Amino acid sequence: MATNSLSAWYFFLSVLYMLTLPYNCHPLTVGGDSIALGASLTGNQSIVSKNGTFELGFFCPNGTNNWYIGIWYAQMSNKTIVWVANRETPIRNKPGVLNLTTDGYLKLYDSDGRSIWSTRKNQKAIASKAMILDSGSFVMLGANNISEIVWESFLYPADTWLSGMKMWKGMKLTSWKSSLDPAPGPFSLEMDPAPSKTQFLLVYKDNITYWSTEEWVVDHFSGMPDMLNNFASETFRLPFVKISPTKMYFTYIQISKFDIVQRLVLYKTGDVRSFYRYNSSWINIWSVPKDLCFVYDICGAYGACNRNNLQFCSCLEGFKPKDKRAWFLQDWWSSGCLRSSPLYCSPINGTTDGFLQKNDISLAKEKAVSYSQYPTLPTCRSACLENCSCKAFDLTNSTPPICRMWFGDLFNVRVASNSQPVFLRMAASELQQSISNGGSNQGRVLSISLPVSTAFILVLAFLVIIFLLRRRGMLGKGGDMEGHELLSASLRTFTYKELRIATNNFRDKLGKGAFGSVFKGSLPDDTLVAVKKLRGL
Ligand SMILES: *[C@@H]1O[C@H](CO)[C@@H](O)[C@H](O)[C@H]1NC(C)=O
Ligand SMILES: *[C@@H]1O[C@H](CO)[C@@H](O)[C@H](O)[C@H]1NC(C)=O
Ligand SMILES: *[C@@H]1O[C@H](CO)[C@@H](O)[C@H](O)[C@H]1NC(C)=O
Ligand SMILES: *[C@@H]1O[C@H](CO)[C@@H](O)[C@H](O)[C@H]1NC(C)=O
Ligand SMILES: *[C@@H]1O[C@H](CO)[C@@H](O)[C@H](O)[C@H]1NC(C)=O
Repeated sequence: MATNSLSAWYFFLSVLYMLTLPYNCHPLTVGGDSIALGASLTGNQSIVSKNGTFELGFFCPNGTNNWYIGIWYAQMSNKTIVWVANRETPIRNKPGVLNLTTDGYLKLYDSDGRSIWSTRKNQKAIASKAMILDSGSFVMLGANNISEIVWESFLYPADTWLSGMKMWKGMKLTSWKSSLDPAPGPFSLEMDPAPSKTQFLLVYKDNITYWSTEEWVVDHFSGMPDMLNNFASETFRLPFVKISPTKMYFTYIQISKFDIVQRLVLYKTGDVRSFYRYNSSWINIWSVPKDLCFVYDICGAYGACNRNNLQFCSCLEGFKPKDKRAWFLQDWWSSGCLRSSPLYCSPINGTTDGFLQKNDISLAKEKAVSYSQYPTLPTCRSACLENCSCKAFDLTNSTPPICRMWFGDLFNVRVASNSQPVFLRMAASELQQSISNGGSNQGRVLSISLPVSTAFILVLAFLVIIFLLRRRGMLGKGGDMEGHELLSASLRTFTYKELRIATNNFRDKLGKGAFGSVFKGSLPDDTLVAVKKLRGL
C-alpha cells in the first residue's frame, strides 16, 4: 500500500513537472504588461500596463463579429478604444493570434493562420519584447539594445491623441468610419504639410480643408484664442518643437494638477473633441469646429445640417434615413438619406417630377453650375426638369438673375432660415403629399432666436461644468470665472428643449444647491451630463 501511494505521488509530481516544463524552459509568456519573444496573445487574453491604466487585446464592436487588436482604458467597463492595429482588416468571426515572432516582428493572424497585419515594414530593428506602457503607447523594444524603441503605436495613431503623444508633421489622426467600424473615415487631422506651417487642418478625403487652427503663435493657435483662457491652459498644454521647416511636432500634455483623464479625439462626425473621464463615463467639454455644420459632408446625401439641433442632421423633406440605426448612432455622413418616393425623370402616364420650394435651406455654392441663358424661374425650371440628374435649382438675386443647377446627389445642405428660395426635384406624388401637409413654406426651422434664452442656456451649461468640477474638488471658490471664460469661448450651447430631452424631462435628480437642482442626463452620443436647473425659471 505504501509503495503504491508513493508511486502515485511520484506519478502525480512528474505530471505536474511535465506540465510546468515548457514554461520553465522557454519563457513563452504573455501576461503582465508585455509579450515576450515567441509568445502570442489569443482569444480574450490581454496585457495591462504597469499601473493598470491601459489594456491591449482583441475587441469586437457590438454585434459585428469583426475582431481587432486594440488598446482601451483597463478600468472602465465600456471599452473606450484609443488605438486599433488592423483598422482596415478585421478578423471575421473569431479573435486571431497576435504573435511576437521568434525573428523579432509583431504579426497578427486570423484563426486559420492567414496574415492580417504586421509591424515588420515599419520597425527600425528586430525586437525582443512588445509592451504596453502607462501612457497608452504600445512599444517594441530592440533585440540588440533593449533600451531602444524599434516601433511604437504613438507613431501610427488611429483617431485618438493621448497625453504624451507627439504629432509630427506628416502624421495624422483619422476618424472612425462609423461607431462600429474603426476603418479610416473621410475626416483627418494633420499639420499643414507646407514647410514651416504650424497650423492643424481638418481635411475631408485628403482633399478638402474644412477647418484650421491657424498658425501657432508663442503659446496658442491664432484661430483658437480660447486656448489662453485659464481653464484650457490649466488642463492641457501643447509644447511645440521645431527641428527644421519640415520636421516639427506638437505634444499633447494633460496637466495632472486636476488629476482627470483626458483624451483628444477626431470624432466620427469630423470634429475634434476633448473628453474628460468622470467616474465611468466620458464628458465632452470642448470641441472644434464649434459649429458642427462646418464639417464637410457631415450629414451625407440629402441630409441637412442644423447647428441648433441636438441631432445636427435631419433628412430633407421627402427623404428618410438610409439606415435608421446608423442615423441614430450619429453615423450620418456614411449613411445619408434616401427618397421616400423615387423620381419619374421622364413622364410616365402623364405624371412627372416637380419641384419643392424651400426657403429654409442653403445648398453648397461651389457645386452649382451656372447658366446665364435661363434668367427666369420658368426657363430655369424647365431646363432643370429636362435633365434627370439635375436635382435642384435656384435663381441668384443678381441683375440679371443667373440660373444655378445642382447635378447628382445633394451634399452639404444646411438649414438657414430666410434664405433665397431653392427648388428641389421631387416625384410629383411626393409634392402632392407635401402640399396637403401644409405646402412648401412650412416653418420647420427651430427658432432659438431669443437672446434671453441663449443667455439662460449659457448659464446652464456653465453651471454644468462648475458642478462637475466642484464635485471633483477641482475648483476653489474663485473658479467660476475660469469656467465661464472657457464656456463663452468654446462650449456648444443647448436649448432648453434639448436639455429637457437629455435629462428625460428632468427626471433623475442628482442633488440640490442654493440656486436650483442638478439632474442627470445623457446626450445622443451617450455622453453623460449633469444639468443644473435654476429655480424660478
Ligand atoms: C476567456 O474565454 C474563455 C473561453 O471562451 C472563458 O471560459 C473565460 O472565462 C474567459 N476569461 C475571461 C477572463 O473573460
Ligand atoms: C448592441 O447592439 C444591440 C442590438 O443591436 C443593442 O440592443 C445593444 O444595446 C448594444 N449594446 C451596446 C453596449 O451598445
Ligand atoms: C499611470 O501612469 C501614467 C503615466 O505615467 C500617469 O499619468 C497616470 O496618472 C498613472 N495612473 C495611475 C492610476 O497611477
Ligand atoms: C541603446 O538605445 C538607447 C536609446 O535609443 C541609446 O541611447 C543607446 O545609446 C543605445 N545603446 C547602444 C549600445 O547602442
Ligand atoms: C445632364 O447634365 C449633366 C451635367 O451637366 C450632363 O453631363 C448630362 O449630359 C446631361 N444629360 C442630358 C440627358 O442632357
